[in-house]
Amino acid sequence: MRLREFLEGLGQDELHKIEGQVELADVAVALEGNAKAVWFERLSLAGNVAGSRSRLAHAFRTTPRGLLQEVLARLKNKGEVVEVQKAPAQEVVEKDPDLTALPVHLQHGFDGAPYISASVDFTRDEERGVTNVGMRRLMLRGRREAGIDLNAPSDLRAIYQSAVKRKQRLPIAFVVGSHPIDQVAATMRLPGDELALIAALRGEPLQVVKCVSNDLRVPADAEYVLEGYLDERGYVEPEGPYGEFLGYYGTLKTNPVFHLTAVTHRRDAVFQTSTISGKTLARTDTAQLNAIRAEVGVWRALETAVRGTTAVYASPASGGAFNVRVQLATRAFGDARNAIAAVFGCLVNVKHVFVVDPDVDIWSDEQMEWALATRFQADRDLVVQSGFRAIPLDPSLRSSQTGAKAGFDLTMQRMPTPLPPAYEGRRFDSVEAALRDGPKHFVELMAARASRDGREIVRELEALRPRLARDPDGRYVLK
Ligand SMILES: Cc1cc2nc3c(=O)[nH]c(=O)nc-3n(C[C@H](O)[C@H](O)[C@H](O)COP(=O)(O)O)c2cc1C
Repeated sequence: MRLREFLEGLGQDELHKIEGQVELADVAVALEGNAKAVWFERLSLAGNVAGSRSRLAHAFRTTPRGLLQEVLARLKNKGEVVEVQKAPAQEVVEKDPDLTALPVHLQHGFDGAPYISASVDFTRDEERGVTNVGMRRLMLRGRREAGIDLNAPSDLRAIYQSAVKRKQRLPIAFVVGSHPIDQVAATMRLPGDELALIAALRGEPLQVVKCVSNDLRVPADAEYVLEGYLDERGYVEPEGPYGEFLGYYGTLKTNPVFHLTAVTHRRDAVFQTSTISGKTLARTDTAQLNAIRAEVGVWRALETAVRGTTAVYASPASGGAFNVRVQLATRAFGDARNAIAAVFGCLVNVKHVFVVDPDVDIWSDEQMEWALATRFQADRDLVVQSGFRAIPLDPSLRSSQTGAKAGFDLTMQRMPTPLPPAYEGRRFDSVEAALRDGPKHFVELMAARASRDGREIVRELEALRPRLARDPDGRYVLK
């Protein structure tokens, strides 16, 4: 389950392979808005690998629409972790570890420096006795020093803060170059050991190896491992600005410092970069990874709040979480509002929830527009609440500490959509015989007479007119 093999398994519709010389200064432009993963062969660098739902689905051997259910099914796996002594990730141990020897490029115009962005971090939470895994960017600050953004609430932030309280360094290892499944696992925030979570999502035992300069365990099939520690000084150095996942620059932050102690890698290692910001969020690694994480969280919350959830979709254009769609077979009045309330509470990132009936395709923007236009009355179906914990990166907060959430109840009494007719039903010798059998729609009368035209049915109905009536559903009946 190494990155190189995943890339080799992608077709031309999913992968843009650039064989010629590319300078680091040109990498960001090649990735911006690209619907495909890009493999810069001469740089031995791949980007935007998880930046589409179809590639994530490919990683999980399912379809884009089947992705959520596949992930939910795999989350039920136990997840076995096996330690090995020799690992491809350690085929080469760099004698002079140097962050500036790696193909790290400037991602956005005003970023503070080149960033490593596809960095999956591994730490030990000694209090819980588990390995924590996440994704955290690294701002190059020298050959062996980088800034790490630990501002947002996360398990790693809590683990680091308690190490700082004890005046201790926190050993950490970053895998750069990993299978998309490992990144999905890294961005999930679930209780428990997250090495086991990677194994569960992979659907096979995870081989891990001990790092060469600390006691952390990392996947043996990683492309690169950057080992080191976060120093005990806490939040001391400026980090940023950086093009953030909502499509805006973040501010210059004060953040901890990462110190590099070793670099190990495969002989034919592929370095990796993640797309984060820009004008086309839907095509970034961050939005796609966020989306599947949000869908899992929402699905689980709805499992206990209401019955009848049939699909959940987090729109990647909203950063993969801010706008969430729920398809619900409502069983009782008020179900849609209960669903909205549950989604409000389950994830900080979710701001807007759209609940639709099962006949609306939640993967279709067109269908969602139609449902919003025709099934929604703003004074009746809008739920607005304020004072929620919010993501400070959201510029619409205008520096407020908390934010508002809105739910759009787009459900309605079930009404059939006017689709092209399907001529199905029993045959009869005449329209009259068909109507003696019971009330029928015009289409059923056509089917009853095996009509491929329809106008002769009009004539037969005309002959019956004195004895003919219509029921409240518009079906023809004999008086
Ligand atoms: C590509 C990518 C980069 C990310 N970078 C950061 C980051 O620099 N800082 C941060 O706090 N979260 C970042 N995140 C979000 C965290 O990885 C995510 O919240 C994760 O669940 C945190 O894990 P933890 O709570 O187990 O520590 C990033 C996510 C992605 C997909």
